[in-house]
Amino acid sequence: MTISCHFSPPSYLTRSKTMGLSTAQGLLLLILASAAAADDAYTHPKLTWTAPCAHGLDSKFPAGVECGSLTAPIDYAHPNEGSFNLAIFRLKAKTNGTKSLGSLFYNTGGPGGAASSWFEAMKKGGQIWSDKMLASYDLVGVDPRGMGYSNPIQCDPDIFNAKPQLLDAGSDAGFARTLAFNKAFGNSCLKKTGKLVQFMDAVSTAKDFELVRQALGSGADKFHYYGMSYGTVLGQTYAELYPNRVGRMVLDGAVDRRSTGIDTVMTEAITYQATVEKFFEWCETDESCAFHGQDVRGIYANLTATGNVIPANCTTAPCKSEVTGEDIIANMQPVLVTQDPLPVLGLPGRVYLSELLAQAVQGNATMLSTRLARANSSYDTARYAYYAVACQDYGTPLHTAGDVRRVLNVGASLTLNKGVCEFLDIAITCIGWPTPLTNPPGRALDAARIAQVPPVLIVNAFFDPETSAAWAAGLREQIPNAVSLWRNGTGHTSYFLLGDTSKAIDTFLIDGELPADETVLRS
Ligand SMILES: *[C@@H]1O[C@H](CO)[C@@H](O)[C@H](O)[C@H]1NC(C)=O
Ligand SMILES: *[C@@H]1O[C@H](CO)[C@@H](O)[C@H](O)[C@H]1NC(C)=O
Ligand SMILES: *[C@@H]1O[C@H](CO)[C@@H](O)[C@H](O)[C@H]1NC(C)=O
Ligand SMILES: *[C@@H]1O[C@H](CO)[C@@H](O)[C@H](O)[C@H]1NC(C)=O
Ligand SMILES: *[C@@H]1O[C@H](CO)[C@@H](O)[C@H](O)[C@H]1NC(C)=O
Ligand SMILES: *[C@@H]1O[C@H](CO)[C@@H](O)[C@H](O)[C@H]1NC(C)=O
Repeated sequence: MTISCHFSPPSYLTRSKTMGLSTAQGLLLLILASAAAADDAYTHPKLTWTAPCAHGLDSKFPAGVECGSLTAPIDYAHPNEGSFNLAIFRLKAKTNGTKSLGSLFYNTGGPGGAASSWFEAMKKGGQIWSDKMLASYDLVGVDPRGMGYSNPIQCDPDIFNAKPQLLDAGSDAGFARTLAFNKAFGNSCLKKTGKLVQFMDAVSTAKDFELVRQALGSGADKFHYYGMSYGTVLGQTYAELYPNRVGRMVLDGAVDRRSTGIDTVMTEAITYQATVEKFFEWCETDESCAFHGQDVRGIYANLTATGNVIPANCTTAPCKSEVTGEDIIANMQPVLVTQDPLPVLGLPGRVYLSELLAQAVQGNATMLSTRLARANSSYDTARYAYYAVACQDYGTPLHTAGDVRRVLNVGASLTLNKGVCEFLDIAITCIGWPTPLTNPPGRALDAARIAQVPPVLIVNAFFDPETSAAWAAGLREQIPNAVSLWRNGTGHTSYFLLGDTSKAIDTFLIDGELPADETVLRS
């Protein structure tokens, strides 16, 4: 997040215009030309399929998933200065003799999420895609650079485990501790991973996706795409870079990259707060809430009060043995992603959340404690990648303890949650981060380019604790051909709920039929 606004398009968009070509063509040529000079691999990207899959993945995936790999440049501006292996997974359409609709790419968000994890969830019996989707598309999962099986970001877990509290960074001493932590943490990632940490921005990842699309040849004439959460950043970045390649694109749980600085933090914080208020309302009306009949708001305010510390029993799962109010607010946000259990993604729902909060009130905050990082854990490499991406796509507008105090004062005034949310974490953890802000926000999508994109479906719940409905509306404002679909409910993203919104997404992806713009559905 940067406070300064970037009114002019960044150089990777303008350079192609000076070549006197249509912008999309120009950009593609620019990429191809610079790559060709260095290495033919990037002009004719070669995808190698391996059987059996590496890493023992055959046993973790449903039958039929193919594993591929492709050499991608770390830095597209200097493609001969280092490369890494991009891991690609494909499940061909079970078409029963008819023609597949092509390749559907997807991204699970995070940032840090790996496409391979959804095939693992399918093996465990989770329904990710409807039978109709499985019969229609070749599903192409790309583990984004630095994630999953694509050279995952490694950092020092012992350093990471000493991460200071966000709310401490507003004092001079706390700010100094935060700055020292951020630098040590970021430098440990550089040391353990190498320079890929410096090229984790959404533009580089979108270019990787285009490389895969080209390598798939006639099986991927168009870039059909389902992106959830931070995957909507990747989708809109791809659409701006390659508008004429976009096929059917769904952005579920949207981020508006025009938003920067305090706007980004407070839009998320206020929306998260509104979702917490929905949780309180539910507790008042539903007997399955552990606080039914009690002053849940008052209990929550006391539980999360500054200075409140509750013990956790970390003998079984490695976690922080002292849980603060800030930890509870931060760790509750991902639980509010669903109101009902969603076993396929391991999401337990709001009854469970009420039980965790009740345990904490009883003096046991084990289940709301922050999990400690361990060496070589894929759960933790996803967390590391989260910061590596965020510090390049957002960075921070905060440079002094006073800057932090200003945000914290506004956050504490406007929300019960003190402004604690993911983008506050990003803004504070990116202070002093050792890699530059390469893909700053604060700019609308290029109007001329985005006008060439076929209709995109933008989906959001009104009460989404992570990606605000305001961002989905903001993204819709920038894409004239887009259609907005709303779910009048709570939770982050809608596809897995298998309700009417999920059906509308399938209808668009499979039949090409869009709902009317601004349709509001209940489920
Ligand atoms: C596959 O196609 C054949 C021939 O059209 C049809 O008889 C059969 O029912 C189809 N199977 C499925 C699972 O749809
Ligand atoms: C919150 O804490 C205050 C001070 O200890 C106490 O008076 C009040 O009853 C508590 N509120 C709830 C709802 O537990
Ligand atoms: C912590 O958990 C372990 C394993 O469940 C149990 O044996 C131990 O008694 C617990 N200790 C406390 C203080 O809760
Ligand atoms: C605290 O909660 C954890 C997780 O639910 C449980 O394993 C542990 O036994 C509890 N400890 C006490 C003292 O209740
Ligand atoms: C983590 O992986 C590295 C490289 O494979 C290995 O050297 C190290 O021993 C592993 N650490 C642990 C704790 O497993
Ligand atoms: C959402 O549903 C509530 C009732 O549950 C209704 O009052 C409200 O008007 C709906 N919002 C929209 C935008 O349709």
